[in-house]
Amino acid sequence: MLTVSGVDVAYGRSQVLFDVSLEIPDRSLVCVMGRNGVGKTTLLHALMGLLPCSSGRVNFDGTDITGWRPERRVKAGIGYVPQGHEVFGQLTVWENLQVAWEVSAAAKASAIDEALDLFPRLRPLLKRRAGFLSGGQQQQLAIARALVGQPRLLLLDEPTEGIQPSIILEIEEAIVGLHRDGLSILLVEQYLDFAIRLADRYVVLDAGEVARAGPASELAEASVRQLLSV
Ligand SMILES: Nc1ncnc2c1ncn2[C@@H]1O[C@H](COP(=O)(O)OP(=O)(O)OP(=O)(O)O)[C@@H](O)[C@H]1O
Ligand SMILES: [Mg+2]
Repeated sequence: MLTVSGVDVAYGRSQVLFDVSLEIPDRSLVCVMGRNGVGKTTLLHALMGLLPCSSGRVNFDGTDITGWRPERRVKAGIGYVPQGHEVFGQLTVWENLQVAWEVSAAAKASAIDEALDLFPRLRPLLKRRAGFLSGGQQQQLAIARALVGQPRLLLLDEPTEGIQPSIILEIEEAIVGLHRDGLSILLVEQYLDFAIRLADRYVVLDAGEVARAGPASELAEASVRQLLSV
């Protein structure tokens, strides 16, 4: 579904990603892990076209999308949930979803309803301004908003960060359900137990390079834990 080959990314003269290659097979859930500041968010920004790659290629579903603008990637079927549950705070919950529906012209009329089915907690809050929701509710809204576009690949940047445990469980259930239904998922996650429960495969970044990758069964190994410990 997604193939990243030899990607370098820099902020001005400061290079942050070095020769990163990874693969998200169709219908799989791949966890990208690594300590703070190793380049996980930078990688997702590059995959969404929010940052250019100074070398390397990104291939989505058989098409080279390396030079594509973010909107074109969204329309092609890549959904993105940024780090820090970024929602449109001045808009209501309903308007947040409506905007996403309008942007992704291809989404069917029931797309908003289906996204809300996944997070029933949001239904009574549709008229509330998103800025007044709790962090956990905002995270659910950010995921629902990405799903309204009916993506084939979903990129999630630390959806459990700073979220209370009961909502983490709801988010986990939602991700498990999406995975079961065949969505391909790249999940950035630092919470190892969450990754062990959800992932098929993992990639650990360290100082902007792929330090290790493999099947999720390896995540319990001490050598992997060591790459993630601070
Ligand atoms: N806009 C920017 N300009 C310059 N350097 C940046 C910028 N954004 C991030 N960096 C640097 O790039 C490196 C990788 O940052 P990034 O946000 O990708 O890490 P991360 O793995 O997502 O970290 P975290 O786990 O804290 O979210 C860090 O050293 C960071 O300081
Ligand atoms: Mg990050």
